[in-house]
Amino acid sequence: MNRGLSTLVVGGGMITADLILPSLYHLQRREAVADITVCALSSGPLRELDADTEIRGAFPGSGFTARPALSEPPDAPRPGLYRELIAGMKPRQLVVVAVPDTLHHTVVMEALRGDQNVLCVKPLVLAHAHAREIETEARKRGLFVGVEYHKRFDRRSLVARRAYRQGRFGEFVCGEAKLTEPYSYRNSNFQNWFTVEATDPFTYIGCHYIDLVHFITGLRPVEVSLAGVRRRFPNGTEGFLWSLGRVRWENGALLGVTNGLGYPDLAAGSNDQGLLLYCEGEGKTGMIRHDDQDRGVSYAYLEGIGPGGSHFNFVSPDFFRLVPWEGEGLRPVGYGFDSIAAIVETVRRVERAGEGMPDAEARAARGRVLHDVDEEGIVATPANSGINELAIEAARMSILSDGLPVSILYDGDTPRVRPRQG
Ligand SMILES: NC(=O)c1ccc[n+]([C@@H]2O[C@H](COP(=O)([O-])OP(=O)(O)OC[C@H]3O[C@@H](n4cnc5c(N)ncnc54)[C@H](O)[C@@H]3O)[C@@H](O)[C@H]2O)c1
Repeated sequence: MNRGLSTLVVGGGMITADLILPSLYHLQRREAVADITVCALSSGPLRELDADTEIRGAFPGSGFTARPALSEPPDAPRPGLYRELIAGMKPRQLVVVAVPDTLHHTVVMEALRGDQNVLCVKPLVLAHAHAREIETEARKRGLFVGVEYHKRFDRRSLVARRAYRQGRFGEFVCGEAKLTEPYSYRNSNFQNWFTVEATDPFTYIGCHYIDLVHFITGLRPVEVSLAGVRRRFPNGTEGFLWSLGRVRWENGALLGVTNGLGYPDLAAGSNDQGLLLYCEGEGKTGMIRHDDQDRGVSYAYLEGIGPGGSHFNFVSPDFFRLVPWEGEGLRPVGYGFDSIAAIVETVRRVERAGEGMPDAEARAARGRVLHDVDEEGIVATPANSGINELAIEAARMSILSDGLPVSILYDGDTPRVRPRQG
């Protein structure tokens, strides 16, 4: 299949501007992606996206179709518009889901029922039963759903996964993970959805490292205890803006998980993150330590152009950067781009597998590829990243009862969570 995928992005916020749209533009240069439409709740965010000088400079000549159109009032909400757009797509193209977490399930299911492949930002959904529902619907239709857990594509994660599985460190026994996003997030659209009832820092960003520990070690979480600190956003909305969790794994290992929206805006960050896993072998210990904040590159700017207006910054060349290349404008590099590219390529791999075949044969051929992708475990899918929904479900139950330990039970066909007994 040489045709690129016609692509609808639902959600025009921060992640679309910082990662998704520039990545799709570059994939369009490679002809993996064809036309791009971006749909937001209203035209306001799309006007900002359209006017983004960084993106415009990097991709001269690229553009997207805005829905609602840029000429519509910036604050007039069109919450059901994405449904009409999905209904109008050619079958078996791509819908990118980049709306707030609580809407993922509805939008992903709408895309699947509209016969579209899906790229969904993490976390896929907030309940394990919803992940299973998505998996079943996608399997039935021979469609691919990729979950954008981009930390899997950080080279250090890939190296650690291979070495861990070769037995180089021994078995994970105790460690910590942290990810604290900037204080400035409190002034953003988060005020409208990051509520106590809907989410918390563990669910929002802690899940990256839960996924990563599973990705590296293959272990599954069996218990989560999570406590949160309630604070108010500038608009008065109450959210858990800090959280501290303890995750127990199936071999008895323990992981402390610290998350928050509060890394100082003027500090070098631009956020704080990293992973430390102590492991045990025969008569000795091993260790994996990833400093995901200071990756060894520091810049001091003449003006306060760093994140939050800072002058001095740790600069990560690893996640996502627009850099000069041998073509026009700039190109994206980093594991953020690699992750989007891998999901788009996987959609094309699935589509190619059934090309030109009668329906039943095409479904069987695509089913074999989907099974292989689940088994490979590199691109996150509902099947191979389902432990994340279980950890999130347990975490939500725990944080709403101030740290009560919640067990994840894998006995039987349907894993489930419940408060620890005994
Ligand atoms: N590191 C990561 O992987 C990462 C980072 C940031 C965000 N995310 C995820 O991306 C998602 C969005 O986060 P964000 O930071 O871009 O949020 P945001 O608040 O900046 O943007 C949300 C967007 O969704 C749009 N939207 C809301 N309801 C809609 C509807 N009914 N139809 C169409 N559009 C609608 C809004 O208009 C807005 O453009 C979240 O699930 C978040 O967890 C992932």
